[in-house]
Amino acid sequence: MSSDVFLLYFEDEAEFALRLADEAKLTPQLIHRHRFPDNELKLRFPPKLPSHVVLLRSLVDPNEKLIELLLVVSTARQLGVEHVTLIAPYLAYMRQDIAFEPGEVVSQRVIGAFLASLFDAVITVDPHLHRIATLDEAIPGTTTVVLSGAPLLGDLVAKHHADPILIGPDRESSQWVALAAQRHGFDYAVCEKVRHGDQSVDIELPSISFYGRAIVILDDIVSSGRTIACAAQRLIAAGAVSVDVAVTHALFAHDALNVITSAGVSSTWSTDCISHPTNAVSISPLIAAELNKLDGFMNLRAVAKKSP
Ligand code: R5P
Repeated sequence: MSSDVFLLYFEDEAEFALRLADEAKLTPQLIHRHRFPDNELKLRFPPKLPSHVVLLRSLVDPNEKLIELLLVVSTARQLGVEHVTLIAPYLAYMRQDIAFEPGEVVSQRVIGAFLASLFDAVITVDPHLHRIATLDEAIPGTTTVVLSGAPLLGDLVAKHHADPILIGPDRESSQWVALAAQRHGFDYAVCEKVRHGDQSVDIELPSISFYGRAIVILDDIVSSGRTIACAAQRLIAAGAVSVDVAVTHALFAHDALNVITSAGVSSTWSTDCISHPTNAVSISPLIAAELNKLDGFMNLRAVAKKSP
């Protein structure tokens, strides 16, 4: 069923976008994207837009996509759009939240301010917030909605294992591990992680018994895969009968999937916040439900219907 609120999307996210549009009862509208020989972009969407549009852009490989956001939203505003909601199932640049050395850019602050300057609302899933408590602090002055993939991953784990231990590879993961484990009464714990570099981490297991147990490592992000690989090796050495992985954001940079498979991981499951062959559960029903719940959204839908 169509509506007067457009869901703008790019071709590479068409499958997710069309499903979400159907679930949230939005009108899907493709943004045509032309790349010039020199790599600059030309974008085109319908010349007439309603007063509220929702833009879907998961920010994996974010650098060019941030330029797309700027081009889309600036043009939408020129065409009279009053309210723009960003759905970014994966929100990039959230991990760099502090300057570890003088002069280092705090990307979370810069990108957060950029998104705040463009969007009236931002909906995302499991953003990596370490040293701040809420996404509002990273994207100030904008309505923010944070959803979690952890309950979906917990439900998926329950289909494969009757009595697993859920393990978070570092302290930050404890929020997601607890959320997934508690709804099924699973045992859970988190490790201590020290990162030495992009490709180098060390992990100390919590002092519980893993002998003879099925383990699922649950985390928000797999990037280089080194965190998961190190945790899996330690768990297998501690007597785990199997180690699987459940993750919200399947970044899987370069050889990450091989690295974690070689470390002994059996199955890897992810949400479709980022499209990847490991996708096993979809986040779109959760986003659709949130869109329909947002009072502001519903009011704006009513306003959009009255527009000529
Ligand atoms: C950071 O603490 C995150 O929760 C992940 O554990 C981390 O980003 C994974 O990175 P990698 O796969 O490169 O070890």
